[in-house]
Amino acid sequence: MPNELRIGMVGYGFMGRAHSNAYHRVNQFFDTAYQPVLKAIAARDQEKTKKFADRWGWERVERNWHKLVEAADIDAIDICSPNNTHHEIALAAAAAGKMVLCEKPLAMDLAQAREMTRAVEKTGKPNMVWFNYRRVPAISLAKQMIDEGRLGKVFHYRATYLQDWTISPKVPVGGAATWRLEKDVAGAGVSGDLSTHNIDTALWLNGPVRRVCGMTEIFIKDRKRPDGSPARVEIEDVCTFLARFANGSNGTFEATRYARGRKNKNSFEVNGEKGSIYFDLEDMHQLQYFNHEDPTHLQGWRTILVTGAEHPYMGNWWVPGCVIGYEHTFVNALADFLRGLEKGERVRPDFRDALETQAVAEAVLESARAEKWMSPQADLS
Ligand SMILES: NC(=O)c1ccc[n+]([C@@H]2O[C@H](COP(=O)([O-])OP(=O)(O)OC[C@H]3O[C@@H](n4cnc5c(N)ncnc54)[C@H](O)[C@@H]3O)[C@@H](O)[C@H]2O)c1
Repeated sequence: MPNELRIGMVGYGFMGRAHSNAYHRVNQFFDTAYQPVLKAIAARDQEKTKKFADRWGWERVERNWHKLVEAADIDAIDICSPNNTHHEIALAAAAAGKMVLCEKPLAMDLAQAREMTRAVEKTGKPNMVWFNYRRVPAISLAKQMIDEGRLGKVFHYRATYLQDWTISPKVPVGGAATWRLEKDVAGAGVSGDLSTHNIDTALWLNGPVRRVCGMTEIFIKDRKRPDGSPARVEIEDVCTFLARFANGSNGTFEATRYARGRKNKNSFEVNGEKGSIYFDLEDMHQLQYFNHEDPTHLQGWRTILVTGAEHPYMGNWWVPGCVIGYEHTFVNALADFLRGLEKGERVRPDFRDALETQAVAEAVLESARAEKWMSPQADLS
């Protein structure tokens, strides 16, 4: 009989669906000693929350997230609501001695992220931040190849996160999904939303960042709210930055919602002395690899189809050649979290890792404001 992990989830939007799906699927595909129980959910609109709970099999609906935090029959709080809610919910959940799983970006700013990290670490309970792209099998394979020394000394790390959904001036500030354009709700623009994914992956693959130099722009400065009233845009539409990594490599990062034709192009290329790798989320089942140690007459970029049982996570899914998708990355992440519970091991990325990401993102924005290089400050004090 598996141990129960009773979940209380906040929010039923995009991530509410992705996480609910993961809670249902994980024990069907992974052998873990823990089984999530979809205990209770809270969000702002009671009627819609009830409909969501019925569709996804949540046992009950609570009036607000405070009720989840207070409930004796809930072990872990899962925060799937907009960024401005993460801090307050995480602090309350930690104070109540719950495990906390939080969506990214961890916080509105670095000061909040520090406080949240201190709070969850004080409980001694496991915590996690859903930087799910680490659990794309091809990205996990990239990590494995780097750790195996296949790239050798790294010279360049090049990342992009490109979308095109805010080019129209008609996209409002505020509302479902478009809360991302509202500073008081999102905290930051693409640096918090998109760059943080790139930064988390980069820190994982290529180690700490020592210095950054950023540039941002707001292309459309005046928009409207959903009710038609005028709204000044205060979050950046594009964020580009240079980075110096501790391992001596140079990095370039570009995130934008103004790259016409790009929908979710989260990509990176790493160039090392012995080889290079390239990944693009829009072809997420593939990893491109150039091996300089191949015989010279056979050298060239090869495409690794990351669907074999020998590849990370894929032994738990289908037969070789059958791809998995976006939603599976959340199942893989959850499987790791449950295994960490079972073994009493730290599962990453956790709040401490997300704090480091937040520190880089904040240093980038400060650097862009001041027009000079900055060093991320990920310390807890
Ligand atoms: N890991 C990823 O790749 C990924 C992808 C998308 C979003 N996110 C993150 O997930 C979080 C949620 O984003 P989303 O796209 O699911 O948003 P969404 O707009 O689709 O859904 C937000 C949900 O939060 C609820 N909500 C809003 N304010 C609330 C409050 N004060 N109290 C309780 N509930 C509240 C809303 O009712 C809604 O159910 C954000 O932090 C976002 O950055 C992460």
